[in-house]
Formats: sequence, structure tokens, C-alpha cells
Amino acid sequence: MAVRKVGVIGCGLMGSGITQVCAQSGFETTVREVSQELIDRGLSRIKSFMEAGVKRGKLKEEDVTSTFRRIKSTTRYEDLADCDIVIEAVIENMDAKKEVFSTLDKLCRKDTIIASNTSSLSITEMASVTRRHDKCIGMHFFNPVPVMKLIEIVKPEITSEQTYQAVREMGQSLGKTVVTAKDTPGFIVNLLLVPYLLDAVRAVENGTATKEDVDTAVKLGLNHPMGPIELLDYVGLDTTYYIAEAMFQEFKDTRYASPTLLKRMVLAGRNGRKVGRGFYDYNSK
Ligand code: CAA
Repeated sequence: MAVRKVGVIGCGLMGSGITQVCAQSGFETTVREVSQELIDRGLSRIKSFMEAGVKRGKLKEEDVTSTFRRIKSTTRYEDLADCDIVIEAVIENMDAKKEVFSTLDKLCRKDTIIASNTSSLSITEMASVTRRHDKCIGMHFFNPVPVMKLIEIVKPEITSEQTYQAVREMGQSLGKTVVTAKDTPGFIVNLLLVPYLLDAVRAVENGTATKEDVDTAVKLGLNHPMGPIELLDYVGLDTTYYIAEAMFQEFKDTRYASPTLLKRMVLAGRNGRKVGRGFYDYNSK
């Protein structure tokens, strides 16, 4: 089955990026959020990103117009009933994701694929609340979605080959390179990334070096585009914390245990760039 109509649940940082790349790649895309205010915020994020792309000479004005022509927005799940695939990008919390899977299962066409953009949680567990285990799959995008070239497809045992091939084909038609992982916590990227980010926080917490020097060391010593502390702010401290917790629960390995400093910052709401403050202050920039 070839995918033509796409639904996206959530128009936050990831959901808006997924909506953008789908619509930009020619798919009719309907994005659902809980309120008009969140829809407006998500759509204006897409607009600013695309306009910046026009200024950089990466896109043309007509790309912006044609992309927006393919995007519909709604607060009603029912408007996604006719999609070939629905990709959820809600908060990294199993109960929230199960609720989305269960709602979509009841409303969508029998052959609609339900995908999750989870970074670490089990697709098998999400699929367990549906009557279409074979049509559930993971489709993990990276931030910023329009720029990052990777999609991790997460294929549990219960997913059919037909679903996998349809999602693979769709991922490639978004201009992304696709890799495939089993349904184990963190998949490929976060299995490697999370211990590294937590170690960077431990280095700052222990006084090994300042956050600035940790970032500079990685950028210049390893040629990464961002240092780990900058990257934490970029991904979101809360998001990283939830991913690490899920991995710690599963593996019971202290490599995935969040350092106290990270926990305290999340409790204080210093969740990174999206709220203007994390390890660094973005309000003044
Ligand atoms: N429209 C179109 N293209 C754009 C663009 C825009 N608005 N903004 C940037 N780009 C393109 C640039 O043109 C450039 O493309 P080329 O290489 O083809 O020239 C590319 O994006 C990079 O741009 P710049 O070098 O100008 O750098 P930047 O400061 O704009 O880039 C960044 C910022 C891409 C975020 C870079 O710092 C980076 O790669 N950081 C690391 C990001 C990362 O690791 N993300 C993954 C996080 S983990 C995750 O998401 C998953 C999880 O589960 C936690």
C-alpha cells in the first residue's frame, strides 16, 4: 500500500517538523492539536523555518505556498480517519501515547498505519491497545526534522512486512535515509546518545570542566556541530530526562540514571531552548 494521505498528532517541535517535511514532499497532511492556539503556534514555526530557508536560498517562495496548500489543521481526531498513515508526536509518556493509539484504532480506516515518533518507548506496548498490531510501527525523526537526514524505523516482531515496506518507502520519499532498529529502548541513536549526554552533565556537575569548555572541547576536538550541553538544551532537558528514565527502567543500568543536576533543572522548569532557559540563557540572545 502506497502512502498518500498523512495525519500527524501534535504540532509541537517534532510534530510541526514532521508536518512540514510531509507536506513539502507532496503528501496531503492533516495535523491535529488540542487547541487552535497550539495549531497556530506550530504553523507559525513551520512558516518561520521555511522563510528562513528562502532567505538562505534553500527554498523558493512557491515552495512555502505549495507546502501550506497541502496542510490542513484540526482539533478533531475524526478528521484523520481517512489517512493512510498517522504519525503521533505527543509527549514522551506511555499513557499519553497509548491513548492516542487507542483513539486512532477506533476511528481510522482498518488499513491505516499508526506510527509513533517515540525516541525510546516500546512500540509493542503502544500497539497492545489496538486491534491492528501488524499496522503499528515506530518512525523516529530527529530535530530539526527538516534538516536532519535520518529516520529510524522501529519494527517490532508484530509489525507486518507490508507495513514496514510502506513506511520505508514513505520515509525515503521524504528525502531521508532510513535505518531499521528492533523495538528495544533507545533504538540506535538514543542508545548511544543518552549516556553521552548524561556523562556530559556529570562532568559539569563534578567540576571536571565548565559547560562552555565541555561544549568547546566536543565541537573542536570531535568536530560535532554542537557540544553535548548545547545539544541537551536543543533537544530539551525534560525530553532527555524522560528518555533516560525509560531506558533506566528497562536496563537497570546506571549509565542511564539521570544525574541530580539534570533532575533539579527539569524540576525548576529549565528545560532548554524551547522555554528560553536551560544550561544556557536564550532570552538575552
Ligand atoms: N531551511 C532550510 N535549510 C536549512 C534551514 C532552513 N530554515 N536552516 C538550516 N538549514 C540547512 C542549512 O542550509 C545547512 O544545509 P547544507 O549543509 O546543505 O548547507 C544545514 O541545514 C545546516 O545549517 P548550518 O550549518 O547553517 O547550521 P545551523 O546553525 O543552521 O544548524 C543545526 C543548526 C542543523 C541544528 C546544527 O547545529 C546541528 O546539526 N546540530 C545537531 C543537531 C542534532 O544532533 N539533532 C539530533 C538531536 S537528537 C534527536 O532529535 C532525537 C531524540 O530522540 C532526542
